[in-house]
Amino acid sequence: MAALQSYAADWDAQGTPVWFTTWLPLLERFRARVGDLLNAPSGSTAIAPSVSVALTTLATGLPLPPGRDKVLIGELDFPTIGHQWLSRPGFQVEFVPSEDGMTIPPEAFAERIDSRTALVATTHLFYTTGYLQDVRAIAAAAHASGALCLIDGYQTCGCVPLDVAEMDCDAFVGGCLKWVSGGPGNAFLYVRPELIPRVRPQGTGWFATRDPFSFTLQELVWADDARRLETGTWAVGCHYAGLAGLEMVLDVGVANIQERLRDLTDRILERCDEAGVKTFTPRERSKRCGIVTLECDRPEEVESRLLAAGVIVDSRPGRVRLSPHWCVTEDELERGMDLVLDQVQAAARTRS
Ligand SMILES: Cc1ncc(COP(=O)(O)O)c(C=O)c1O
Repeated sequence: MAALQSYAADWDAQGTPVWFTTWLPLLERFRARVGDLLNAPSGSTAIAPSVSVALTTLATGLPLPPGRDKVLIGELDFPTIGHQWLSRPGFQVEFVPSEDGMTIPPEAFAERIDSRTALVATTHLFYTTGYLQDVRAIAAAAHASGALCLIDGYQTCGCVPLDVAEMDCDAFVGGCLKWVSGGPGNAFLYVRPELIPRVRPQGTGWFATRDPFSFTLQELVWADDARRLETGTWAVGCHYAGLAGLEMVLDVGVANIQERLRDLTDRILERCDEAGVKTFTPRERSKRCGIVTLECDRPEEVESRLLAAGVIVDSRPGRVRLSPHWCVTEDELERGMDLVLDQVQAAARTRS
């Protein structure tokens, strides 16, 4: 809230010059903090208004291996990943199935990667089950066949320690809306530094050029760094909030947040087991973080009853999703779970 108030105050006090004194430096700091979050080198991160836009830019901009047209996507991935390549006639999209509806082992990707595969694009943590994928294994399988690997880490930014070099992915997209608590309009992307000189998005803008303020119309000279993945003027107010969220989670420590969330999800799973409510989230602590989904009849109705009782959950088809953040106390979790389990069981009783 304080960050959003300073946005208004800076603008009011300075007028247009605020761009140069405050706003452009703030965007630079935002890119640097994203670098800290991903453990990515300076110049390899860029800002995007949403993860979908970041994926659109990468879908045309990544230097994919020539002569290949297949994109492999996990069956449990977020829809916008599929849409990116389904909308492009030049690509054949293949979805890697999940045997148990909860996980996809890296071997299932590896088995389907062949000499036609240009890209493996998948999420770090599945939004409907909370399963944390082994990115390094998926990237290794892609690279072994000459394909690239793109990871959507929207559900791990701010709650799982990230290291793009260790994961060995070629591109990574994420944002501040979810576990970074920085609000919308604050997505970002990373591209492996060696690939950046060959990145040429088909769809760009003046802020992707080396010197936007040269106002050069008749030629396009890309920025040398990942800024070439950006487009036009940024929604700066959003980035005040996004930067505050980033600095807060970096200050608290993402590894600390991860431990806390795993403790909370341990307890949620225990409460569900005691109540006999089915869950779709892995038991193994290292394979999940902050999300647990529960089987639920009429999840939208359950969601609105819980909201009226002061508990915020999400509904997804056939499920409710619980995602407590690190600020939730043990006592709040117990009281929240009493209400969640009551509602889920009441919905099941009216079915039978
Ligand atoms: C993993 C994942 N990727 C992408 C998105 C969509 O992001 P955006 O709305 O910024 O395009 C979501 C939204 O919930 C998500 O969970």
